[in-house]
Amino acid sequence: MHILVLHGPNLNLLGRREPAVYGATTLAEIDAGLAEQARAAGARLQSFQSNHEGALVDRVQAAAAEGVDFILINPGAYTHTSVAIRDALAGVAIPFIEVHLSNVHRREPFRHHSYFSDLAEGVILGLGATGYRLALSAALERGARPR
Ligand code: DQA
Repeated sequence: MHILVLHGPNLNLLGRREPAVYGATTLAEIDAGLAEQARAAGARLQSFQSNHEGALVDRVQAAAAEGVDFILINPGAYTHTSVAIRDALAGVAIPFIEVHLSNVHRREPFRHHSYFSDLAEGVILGLGATGYRLALSAALERGARPR
């Protein structure tokens, strides 16, 4: 099984970015934990972070050609703005789980709408880095897509 983890803008700053909101765990630590969890389950996992919308669109499109079975995505602020990344996910039709470190519904109203949630298999938010682990467990449980 092949899983792709996508991190949107500013998530490269995790650990020092608003730690009261996003926690002290760095992105490298999150990715390392996910890689280990996937390895233990015999799955292949790749992580990709970008601050650029088009780079994330390109990565989603490439995932289709690579035979990715499942995507975990925290689109960061693009959650609330990006029709382009939404359309890319819809276009490749790879199932995905949307993850947010913070509980966006406890925050500013502009964070309450997501362009992704209605397409997602599931949404996990407010649980910090634990949310990624839970999302990966759910993806692993589903197994590879039939081809
Ligand atoms: C976030 C929530 C978004 O509103 C914000 O723009 C982020 C991170 C989260 O993980 O809680 O960059 O996706």
